Amino acid sequence: MIFDQIIDEIRRDGPIGFDRFMEIALYAPDGGYFTTGSLRSDRGGDFLTSPEVSPLFGDTIARFVAAEQGRIGEPFSVIEVGGGSGSLLRPLLDGLDPAPPALVIERSAAARASLGSTVPEAEVIAELSRMRGVIVANELLDNMPAVLVVKRSDQWMERHVSVADSGLELVDAEPRTEVVEWADRYAGPVPEGGQVEVQLQATDWIRGALAQLDAGALLLFDYGDLAENLVSRRAEGTVRTYRSHHLGPDPLAEPGATDITMDVNFSAAVAEAENSGAKVEFMRQVDFLEQWGLQDHVGALRHEELAAARDGRTMERLMLRSRITDAETLMHPRGLGDFRVLVCRR
Ligand SMILES: C[S@@+](CC[C@H](N)C(=O)[O-])C[C@H]1O[C@@H](n2cnc3c(N)ncnc32)[C@H](O)[C@@H]1O
Repeated sequence: MIFDQIIDEIRRDGPIGFDRFMEIALYAPDGGYFTTGSLRSDRGGDFLTSPEVSPLFGDTIARFVAAEQGRIGEPFSVIEVGGGSGSLLRPLLDGLDPAPPALVIERSAAARASLGSTVPEAEVIAELSRMRGVIVANELLDNMPAVLVVKRSDQWMERHVSVADSGLELVDAEPRTEVVEWADRYAGPVPEGGQVEVQLQATDWIRGALAQLDAGALLLFDYGDLAENLVSRRAEGTVRTYRSHHLGPDPLAEPGATDITMDVNFSAAVAEAENSGAKVEFMRQVDFLEQWGLQDHVGALRHEELAAARDGRTMERLMLRSRITDAETLMHPRGLGDFRVLVCRR
């Protein structure tokens, strides 16, 4: 169905930008990967995120939120954008006493249904408005529609989606002015023939979110890196799909049936946040979680585990071991711990 919608649009208007393709494939009201179907980010879905691995992710963020509340005072609220199942917001709110007013923005109907039962106290809203407090998002930016460009003879060309004999293909097209400006500013070193994801929508979103934040913090977790560290990925670009917790087919192969994602260009994200007047910290997830006490928490769990083992409380010991293992997964230096965190304060 989505495939037909894309083909009809290309036949009518000509090849479409990759951002338009992603918008339809992920978010079309009738058949988009996130807008229809089941919840995508849990154990039964296509990928597993930090809050789905362990409630200690949200619990650790609660300490960051409490510190922000101490810093800026009232009024204070928490907004999660792209809240998924509610697995971040639930332990976050449980970790605050009293919990501040909570709001959530989510494009997926399946996720909104889950949020309704997991965090019934959180108000679902359509868009950000003026606020003081913390805006948090995990794995949001990597799913935002992006434009693809390729470097040819030191010039940028856009890669548009066109109809081939069998299915869809990428073809060169003249680039839009704002796309060239973004690529010149943020792509970093790119070899001839190298591909860059121009994440205009993500950087616009960061600017928009900070414009609404009168005081407090925007806290973003995602995979990706500074542009200079993405050079080795440029030959192929970083766009990919996930299915059943593994890399999936080519992004053009089954629109609507797979996630489409990419590494976040954090050089662009940091610069846009700084240009918006925010004070920015950029770090690895493991360092953020350690800074906000997760390692200490794991230490305390290990003591409890030892005591349970000593007293022969086997079930309890096994449950503690499982919580410890999940927390360690969040901090694994070659796994989730290597994700990046952007803290933007005002
Ligand atoms: C990769 S999932 C992550 C879900 C959750 N944050 C987690 O970590 O488990 C991305 C989520 O962001 C939502 N989303 C994407 N763009 C959005 C936007 N502009 N506003 C609100 N939600 C969005 C999608 O519907 C999807 O549920």
